[in-house]
Amino acid sequence: MTNYSRREIGKVLGAATALAAGGAGSAVAEAATLDLGFPQGFKWGCATAAYQIEGAAKEDGRGATNWDIFSHTPGKVANGDTGDVACDSYHRYAEDTQLLKRLGVSTYRMSLAWSRIFPEGRGKPNQKGVDHYNKVVDNLLENGIDPYITMFHWDLPAALPGGWQNRDTAYAFADYAGYMAGKLSDRVKNFMTVNELRCFTDLSHLQGIHAPGLKLPPAGVNQVRHHGVLAHGLAVQAIRAHAKPGIQVGLADNTTMRVPVIETAEHIEAAKKAIREDNAMFLTAIMEGKYLDSYLQGEGAAAPKVQSGDMAIISSPLDFVALNIYTPDYVRADPSSPKGYTVLPHLPQSPRMASPWLYVGPEVMYWGVRYVSELWGPKTLYISENGCSADDPLTAGRVDDSDRVMYLRNYLTHLHRAAAEGYPIKGYFLWSLMDNFEWADGYTKRFGIHYVDFATQKRIPKLSAAWYKEMIRQNRVV
Ligand code: NOJ
Repeated sequence: MTNYSRREIGKVLGAATALAAGGAGSAVAEAATLDLGFPQGFKWGCATAAYQIEGAAKEDGRGATNWDIFSHTPGKVANGDTGDVACDSYHRYAEDTQLLKRLGVSTYRMSLAWSRIFPEGRGKPNQKGVDHYNKVVDNLLENGIDPYITMFHWDLPAALPGGWQNRDTAYAFADYAGYMAGKLSDRVKNFMTVNELRCFTDLSHLQGIHAPGLKLPPAGVNQVRHHGVLAHGLAVQAIRAHAKPGIQVGLADNTTMRVPVIETAEHIEAAKKAIREDNAMFLTAIMEGKYLDSYLQGEGAAAPKVQSGDMAIISSPLDFVALNIYTPDYVRADPSSPKGYTVLPHLPQSPRMASPWLYVGPEVMYWGVRYVSELWGPKTLYISENGCSADDPLTAGRVDDSDRVMYLRNYLTHLHRAAAEGYPIKGYFLWSLMDNFEWADGYTKRFGIHYVDFATQKRIPKLSAAWYKEMIRQNRVV
């Protein structure tokens, strides 16, 4: 539970309702005192991922990954960019810790490069890889920052035959995750298994725009999805089996989010149904331990091949669910459609940030947290990523990214609503600490609150970093 008193919640909701009702004089006065403070102890952090920031692609025994191969294949990534150097954080991690410290965050979400630990994906561990992450973790802790570790953020060891098409990869992943939990859990207390199931399955094996760039037929895609959720479940069990007691395990999922286009009972129910159905192959399966009949029937002969015991593994109990939330689709109730809802297409003039897919819809923070809570009742929720790309001109040494401040302020205002209503949201990780390798967009899209000059590796705090720092200091939306 949050630390709000009933009276505080009542005050916030009362003021919001009065405002929505049209704001008579007294309502305006009340609204002026509307408190956008977060519960005491709310965790503020930043997030990054190994391939996007580390560089040092061939150092200290790191094995090749699918993204090394993909980014070095002409035509796959904008400008032919690669993660060979990225932000050079492999060497500059102590400098990056100081960026975090200056912001005042209490947490940092980072991922481990599987192929630094097992260069071939499995087999003999590479001590130099373990040493590296020991140093990073120690450095964070010495600076009062609590690491949240993601085990897999898309950089798959290239040596694993068949990649995610092969069921064995799920077992190799669990072995690696268990091994690293054993090494780090004396100091690291929070582990996330995989990042964004839909991206490393569908974007990579259906749309073909992420490594390994495949466009498989439906049966192949569904099998990859199944191996993804199986890998997650096996890793939950392996982490628990090898870690010291007292750790927390979850995943970071980019659950497809739906927002009711009008806040009335029929649309609210429609959007909730849409979330459950449209995530049937991912979070719904993980939280409910079954594939929905509607998904299985819809896929027919292309449905995944499930072995006995798989669904119990996939739905291994979690300590938390973490959500990467960027953008929603709006939904309306639609009695004429067999599903009962229609997902509305975005319009040409709908506001977006610099990435074409990043439509602005701040209410998604509230509805994402509320729907996941109502549907599946996780004990704890985090926002494991939220942020935006912007064009970020560097002018006289400054980046005044007022557009990113606008975006963040609005999203966090809606997250505040979720906290104020008592949903178990305990922390927020801003994506990203600094500009980095944005996958198929290479370095053309900047998501950081620190600007990175990739020629010199200089990091420059943007205006949004100053904004986030102030917000953390006051523990309220500013
Ligand atoms: C989600 C992914 O986890 C992260 O790697 C990516 O950079 C951001 N979204 C922005 O697209």
